[in-house]
Amino acid sequence: MSKTVLIGSQWGDEGKGKIIDVLTANADWVVRYQGGNNAGHTVEIGDQKYVLHLTPSGILREECKCVIGNGLVVDLIGLMNELTELVERGIKLDGRLFISDRAHIVLQYHKEIDGAKEGLAGEGKKIGTTQRGIGPAYADKVDRIGLRMGDILEDDFLDMVRANTEDKNIILESMGNEPLDIDKLLPLVKEAADYLRPFICDTIPLLHEAVKNDDEILFEGAQGVMLDVDFGTYPFVTSSNTGAGGAPAGSGVPPNAIDRVVGIVKAYTTRVGEGPFPTELKDEMGAHIAKVGHEFGATTGRPRRCGWFDAVIARYSAMVGGINEWALMKLDVLDAVETIKVCVAYEVDGERITNVPASIRKLERCTPVYEEFKGWNTPTTGCTQWDELPEQAQKYVEYLENLTGVKVSILSVGPKRESTLLLDR
Ligand code: GDP
Ligand code: IMO
Ligand code: MG
Repeated sequence: MSKTVLIGSQWGDEGKGKIIDVLTANADWVVRYQGGNNAGHTVEIGDQKYVLHLTPSGILREECKCVIGNGLVVDLIGLMNELTELVERGIKLDGRLFISDRAHIVLQYHKEIDGAKEGLAGEGKKIGTTQRGIGPAYADKVDRIGLRMGDILEDDFLDMVRANTEDKNIILESMGNEPLDIDKLLPLVKEAADYLRPFICDTIPLLHEAVKNDDEILFEGAQGVMLDVDFGTYPFVTSSNTGAGGAPAGSGVPPNAIDRVVGIVKAYTTRVGEGPFPTELKDEMGAHIAKVGHEFGATTGRPRRCGWFDAVIARYSAMVGGINEWALMKLDVLDAVETIKVCVAYEVDGERITNVPASIRKLERCTPVYEEFKGWNTPTTGCTQWDELPEQAQKYVEYLENLTGVKVSILSVGPKRESTLLLDR
C-alpha cells in the first residue's frame, strides 16, 4: 500500500481537496502535516459542498481515519466550529479523528497581531495574509513560546493562555490595537479546549503502526510550493514548508516511508494575496478564466488572480517537491479559449532563464516567454476516459507533460468526484 504525499504545485487552491477525496476511496489514513485554517479545501459530493480548513479531507469517507499532525497550527475555536458543522451534517468523528499533542495552538492574539501587522505594513509590504494568525503562531513556535495541543491536557492550561495573552496584549497595544479582554476570551477558549480534548493524543505511534501494517496513507498538503517559506516567493509566502519535505517533519512519519508524491497543478495558474506572478493576466482573458473557474478564495472569498500555465514554476515545483506525477486540474476551464498560452521561460535583464530566481525583485522583472497552443473549443466535463477527450485537449496534456518532464496520472475536468480521469497510458 502506498504512502502518498499530495502537494499544491503553484500558489495554492489547485484542487487538493478534490483529489484527496478521490484518492481516499482506497485510503486508510489522511494526514494534514502543515499550515492551519488558512487552507480552504473544497470537496463536492453529489449536491453537497464541503470546505475544509483544518480537518483532513478524508473525514468525508467513513472508513478513513484522519490525523492533524504535529506540523500544524490549530485555531481552537476555528476547529471546534468546523467539526461541529461536520457533525451537524452527519459526519462521525469518534475513533476517526486524531489531533497531535505536539501541534501548536492559534489563539485570538495571533489573529489580532496578524491583522495589525498587515495594517501597519507600508506600500508593497502587505502580504495579503488570510489573517488567520498563521505567521504569528509559527513565529511563537520557533521562538519556543507557543502553546501546544498537549497543553490542553494540563490542569493549568487556562492559566497558560492568560499569561500568554497578557504578554501579547503589551505587543498589541504597542501596535496601536486595543488589548484583548482576557476574562471574555477565556470561557471561549475553555469551551473549545473541552470540545477538542478527547481527540488529542500522541499521533506518532499511531502513524508508525499504520506504516508497519502497510496501510494506505495520504498526506494532504496545504497551500503550494510557491508559498513555501523556503522555496516560494519569499516574503510573499506562508509560514510553513508546504512541499513534500514538510510531510515527514509535520507528521513524524520518516521520509523513507514515503513512496509517491503527486503534484496538484491547474491547467492555468492562480494566486490569492500579494506577491509576484509572472504570467498574471490583467485583461479580459484573466477575467474569463476567473469567471469560468469560479476563482474566489475558499477561505476568505477574495478574488484569485489568474494567469497562464507557467512551466518554469511547474518544473521547479516538481524538482524541489520530488513530484513523480501530476494531477492536472480544471482543464474544463480552458474549454472555450481559442488560443492558450504557456510560459516556457523568462526573459530578465537581457537574459533568457528557465529557473525561478530567489529574489522577488528579479522575479518581478521577469517577462514570460510564451508558446501558443490552439484550444479545443469543446466541453470536456462529461469526459470520463482519455479517448473521449478532444484531440487538441489530449495534445495540451501531452505538451505540458513534455514541458515539465512529469506525466499526468490524474486529469480533472470538473469539480465533482466523477469528473476525474485516472490515466493509464
Ligand atoms: P485546494 O485549496 O487546493 O483544495 O483548492 P480549492 O478548494 O481552494 O479550490 C479549487 C476549486 O476548484 C474548488 O472550488 C473546487 O470545487 C474546484 N475544482 C476542483 N477541480 C476542478 C475541475 O477540474 N474543474 C473545475 N471547473 N473546478 C474544479
Ligand atoms: P489552500 O490550502 C491560496 C496565501 C495568502 C497569502 C499568503 C500568506 O487552500 O491552497 P497566511 O495567512 O498563510 O499567512 O498568508 O499565503 N495563502 C493561500 N493561498 N491557498 C491557500 O491554501 C493559502 N493559504 C495561504 O493568500 O498570500
Ligand atoms: Mg484552497
